[in-house]
Amino acid sequence: MTETTIDAFNQANQAHLFQFFDSLSKQEQQQFLDQLTNIEDPVKLVRTVQNAISFSQNNSCSRSFTQLPREQCASTLDTPSDQKSHWYNLGLEAISKNEVGVILMAGGQGTRLGSSDPKGCFNVHLPSSKSMFQIQAEKILKIQRLAKDKYPGSKAVVPWYIMTSKPTRRSTEDFFESHDYFGLHKDQITFFNQGTLPCFDLTGSKILMEGQDRICESPDGNGGLYKALALNGIIDDFEKKGIKHLHMYCVDNALVKVADPVFLGFAIDKELQLATKVVRKRDACESVGLIVLDEQSLKPCVIEYSEISSELANQLDPEDPNKLFLRAANIVNHYYSVDLLKKQIPNWTSSQQYLPFHIAKKKIPSLNDEGKLEKPVEVNGVKLEQFIFDVFPSIELNKFGCLEVDRTSEFSPLKNADGAKNDTPKTCKSHYLSLCTKWVKENGGIVEDGALVEVSGLTSYNGEGLEFVRGKSFKNGDII
Ligand code: UTP
Repeated sequence: MTETTIDAFNQANQAHLFQFFDSLSKQEQQQFLDQLTNIEDPVKLVRTVQNAISFSQNNSCSRSFTQLPREQCASTLDTPSDQKSHWYNLGLEAISKNEVGVILMAGGQGTRLGSSDPKGCFNVHLPSSKSMFQIQAEKILKIQRLAKDKYPGSKAVVPWYIMTSKPTRRSTEDFFESHDYFGLHKDQITFFNQGTLPCFDLTGSKILMEGQDRICESPDGNGGLYKALALNGIIDDFEKKGIKHLHMYCVDNALVKVADPVFLGFAIDKELQLATKVVRKRDACESVGLIVLDEQSLKPCVIEYSEISSELANQLDPEDPNKLFLRAANIVNHYYSVDLLKKQIPNWTSSQQYLPFHIAKKKIPSLNDEGKLEKPVEVNGVKLEQFIFDVFPSIELNKFGCLEVDRTSEFSPLKNADGAKNDTPKTCKSHYLSLCTKWVKENGGIVEDGALVEVSGLTSYNGEGLEFVRGKSFKNGDII
């Protein structure tokens, strides 16, 4: 076993990994080999990484893109309210029958935000000081309550599957425990870890080492979700619990509607296998990925902003020249049918490397030739990531949907530390409170000019149930 592993890495030109091996204790040697045996085929891995690096350097895009067919799309901005109510009812009914599960992606390291805790623990300084996790947990509590009220006798429980990674697992679980799971049942929450991938030098020829007895690794990207669902028995758990529909979202959206019944109902109504929630691209220059149709393959896919020509980015919609032609901005908020995941995850995670590696150049602390850990001042290596959307082309077009929603009520990402232009704790707080204040005013509450109030997720999921504020006065910072 020892020799086979060492041989396999030597064949992949990774002999440098073993330069300190003989000086390690037996236990350290074993731990190191255990870490290495997680890499099935080192020769293939190195080849794939080198191909991915050269692909990322010649990023000329010859594909052409267009809008998804109209019948696969809808926008809550112009859908008649009776249609939206129909979707809402379908979604809420599925929740009341315990057919809905929620997947939260919380494995990212949040390097741009710069907090030492996972992003979900972050408090954007709402008057209530609630963390992102608490805001999201209360949405689940509220939607369960709404389902029980509408379907008396039902016992709606929405299982919450939280994907963490090695760097975020412990502190995430501790945070939930120390907050008593925010009022949810402990056993409706499942934590599971995504995998890791080795870090390489900039040419992709050498795996970097973090210590004399271990290689550098980083979380395998949001696309690691599929493998993690399979390896951690989560798909089996869906089956066991009778879950048919899944809402997946990212931890860093301050306005996320967790288990959104309208989105679920949209997908259920159209019998979709995968649906994406999108917001309208602000302008031709906004740096967002877009959900589009690949004109050659006639498959849905995501194009990054760097892949789209300026001409296409600026093109206006001939049907409505007030809008961009390609405007469906990806916010990584999806619906999956459990049937789809059961059928496709074995293909998406097969050793045939269905999901490509994407390359992120980073400063990665690693061992120098003398075996000492160095913190680089310049970018010195690549982290490998898989992307969740790379499976989209495997979905039949008529089973793929796209729902446009209002950005001001559904999307405010927490990416950067305060001081940056966008997507900061300050912008999240402001968007969150502006939405709550709008709900209060729409219900006849009196809020002084310029004041902002907070509506607890336990009071209202989406602005409903606020009739009691009519005629009442609120001042800045009030919590309802
Ligand atoms: P981002 O790509 O914005 O990464 O993640 P991040 O880790 O939050 O922040 P930076 O790039 O280091 O500054 C978007 C969402 O995907 C999840 C994150 O937790 C977040 O919800 N994610 C990202 C994972 O779950 N795993 C990953 O490996 C990467």
